[in-house]
Amino acid sequence: GFSWTLPDHPKLPKGKPVAVVVLDGWGEANADQYNCIHVAQTPVMDSLKNGAPERWRLVKAHGTAVGLPSDDDMGNSEVGHNALGAGRIFAQGAKLVDQALASGKIYEGDGFNYIKESFENGTLHLIGLLSDGGVHSRLDQLQLLLKGASERGAKRIRVHILTDGRDVLDGSSVGFVETLENDLSQLREKGIDAQIASGGGRMYVTMDRYENDWDVVKRGWDAQVLGEAPHKFKSALEAVKTLRAEPNANDQYLPPFVIVDDSGKAVGPVLDGDAVVTINFRADRMVMLAKALEYADFDKFDRVRVPKIRYAGMLQYDGELKLPSRYLVSPPEIERTSGEYLVKNGICTFACSETVKFGHVTFFWNGNRSGYFDETKEEYVEIPSDSGITFNVAPKMKALEIAEKARDALLSGKFDQVNGVNLPNGDMVGHTGDIEATVVACKAADEAVKIILDAVEQVGGIYVVTADHGNAEDMVKRNKAGKPALDKSGGIQILTSHTLQPVPVAIGGPGLHPGVKFRNDIQTPGLANVAATVMNLHGFEAPADYETTLIEVADN
Ligand code: 3PG
Ligand code: CO
Repeated sequence: GFSWTLPDHPKLPKGKPVAVVVLDGWGEANADQYNCIHVAQTPVMDSLKNGAPERWRLVKAHGTAVGLPSDDDMGNSEVGHNALGAGRIFAQGAKLVDQALASGKIYEGDGFNYIKESFENGTLHLIGLLSDGGVHSRLDQLQLLLKGASERGAKRIRVHILTDGRDVLDGSSVGFVETLENDLSQLREKGIDAQIASGGGRMYVTMDRYENDWDVVKRGWDAQVLGEAPHKFKSALEAVKTLRAEPNANDQYLPPFVIVDDSGKAVGPVLDGDAVVTINFRADRMVMLAKALEYADFDKFDRVRVPKIRYAGMLQYDGELKLPSRYLVSPPEIERTSGEYLVKNGICTFACSETVKFGHVTFFWNGNRSGYFDETKEEYVEIPSDSGITFNVAPKMKALEIAEKARDALLSGKFDQVNGVNLPNGDMVGHTGDIEATVVACKAADEAVKIILDAVEQVGGIYVVTADHGNAEDMVKRNKAGKPALDKSGGIQILTSHTLQPVPVAIGGPGLHPGVKFRNDIQTPGLANVAATVMNLHGFEAPADYETTLIEVADN
């Protein structure tokens, strides 16, 4: 029968504290001026790389290695931390939605049948990120859903768009809106009343995460549900073009707008009897809106008017909260994560990051599940992030504070594992596209690693330093030859998004058995191989169905 008890590792001892440090957005790439990790002074990470070659290696952090549909898909924090924590590769939301749309199963499930009840007398509202980034949502999935829903009786459809510029190039919003407008006009030719109703930039409207700033969600609620926003336009294309022309405007931060008819009335507020689908498959930046849409006793902001709707998520976003209760596609069933195993085998765990990445080392790490497995053995610490700023203005973020908490946890002697200490700098500042600030960010992350490694040294522990995906190591769009791709006016195009690059895994520390080295016989190691490795370092064998460990132990 099934047992939570992990077998003893034949060679590795128990009782050494293990610190797992995740540098967010820290990949390995060629050294040039657009590689901020290379440009920055990063002596600690450099010494890991140039130290013992048998204790540093690169692993895949993108594409099929982390459960994404194809190897053209860049990595991201959700799938990266899922893989790190779960030790296995699960078909992720992007892929599950693709499959459900291709097979048509999406239209047969409870979720679709539930919202369909509103098609006769109500409007179908689709709310989500409009791009082909494939991190939170994908345009082609939205297109298929529009087609499928209209073929199955949706007569009135309103799309509430969030412009991207973070998982895709800044400025690409205009093209995505054109494509969507074109699709909607084709639906109108078929007699379906389909239109974009509202919009805004994803980082300013709706897509906050981990309750960092509820105002972001409120701005979206006002535009999407109430039909109220400071900017009113006759079309979304006009809206995006006009708002982008403002000084310093960018896709991520466009202000909220609503589309109005000739009489100035919003064309698509959410009303009693309507259906709403949040089209993002990724959870972190949809959970807050899902709560506002679903919870009767919601009190994070004044919703003013709470329409009686049928609401479904593209996926269920939180497995513990069962939120939302209705969804079109079942999420990956990520169970028996390493965190749960370790706790059940007596390992006391500490996890920490600042707000904007806190759920990465708890929620994503534990398989998209909020809360503790065993409160007596775990402590999760969240350092409040600065809110209402773009992180290029404060690129050191809370790296120092996070590292100090991790240090204190190690020195306290209370924890066997300090895991997923997420250092957000390379990623959060990398997403701003500000190269100078990203260099400062990388240096700050490196200094934070030093604080943690010094503590590991003091307690005789073991470290595992890794990353969840690339970002800061490449800040420019490249052509096929790997050279910066130039735009029409001959300028470089800043890459705000993640990359396809591999990430490092470094192990060491005074507690590491001297015979431990990386194996050479794993064809394409990826992030999912890290969990078994960490279990070994605690003196356990990993469960048989986990991706194989990265290490072997020489007899000496
Ligand atoms: C975001 O949500 O900030 C980006 O789309 C992806 O970044 P992350 O995967 O590093 O969180
Ligand atoms: Co990121």
